[in-house]
Amino acid sequence: MSEPLSDSALDQLFRTARTYNGYLDKPVSDTQLRAIWDLMKFGPTSANSLPARIVWCVSDAAKEKLAALSMPANAEKILKAPVTAIIAMDNEFYEHLPELFPHTDARSWFAGNAPHAATTAFRNSSLQGGYFILAARALGLDTGPMSGFNNDAVDAAFFADTPNVKSNFISTLGYGDPASIFDRSPRPDFDRFNRIA
Ligand SMILES: Cc1cc2nc3c(=O)[nH]c(=O)nc-3n(C[C@H](O)[C@H](O)[C@H](O)COP(=O)(O)O)c2cc1C
Repeated sequence: MSEPLSDSALDQLFRTARTYNGYLDKPVSDTQLRAIWDLMKFGPTSANSLPARIVWCVSDAAKEKLAALSMPANAEKILKAPVTAIIAMDNEFYEHLPELFPHTDARSWFAGNAPHAATTAFRNSSLQGGYFILAARALGLDTGPMSGFNNDAVDAAFFADTPNVKSNFISTLGYGDPASIFDRSPRPDFDRFNRIA
């Protein structure tokens, strides 16, 4: 049985963690990117489908290509961040299920049913995007998720060779600069958006 995390761990993951618009001038290594994946991959996805496909834009060329296809305010953040990850999804993720979910024929649940596969890919790659954010925070990094970009153009620029892969959202990554953020927006108490049935 697990114990609850310490208050400081809960602060780092949730209560004091923020979405950053800018980052300190401190590099993020490829080893850290791999460490994020090696945590986030354990987050649950349906049938262990793991549909997320991630391009970690580290080079100036990759950042410039992505920034040119993003809303101007977001483009600036991409160019200045140490890394921006494109969280994409493989709509044909089911081809990997014989390996990833070996104890039953889960491929047959999705093959030939493109709408079901697309819904499943979107749901689970979005979950994986959440795991990405929390894994980064757990490792002492910060993120800036963004959906303000041209998905079709990003898909053409980054996934032309794999037309079954589509972008979901993007996220900057680095050591957050406190000067780059506004005050925290409201987070209502339980009774506002919940009920116990
Ligand atoms: C899926 C997603 C898309 C977002 N898109 C944008 C965006 O295009 N541009 C932007 O500046 N912020 C974007 N945000 C940032 C949110 O506004 C921010 O996470 C939210 O206000 C909470 O901020 P906080 O974590 O600092 O409390 C996005 C966040 C998420 C999760």
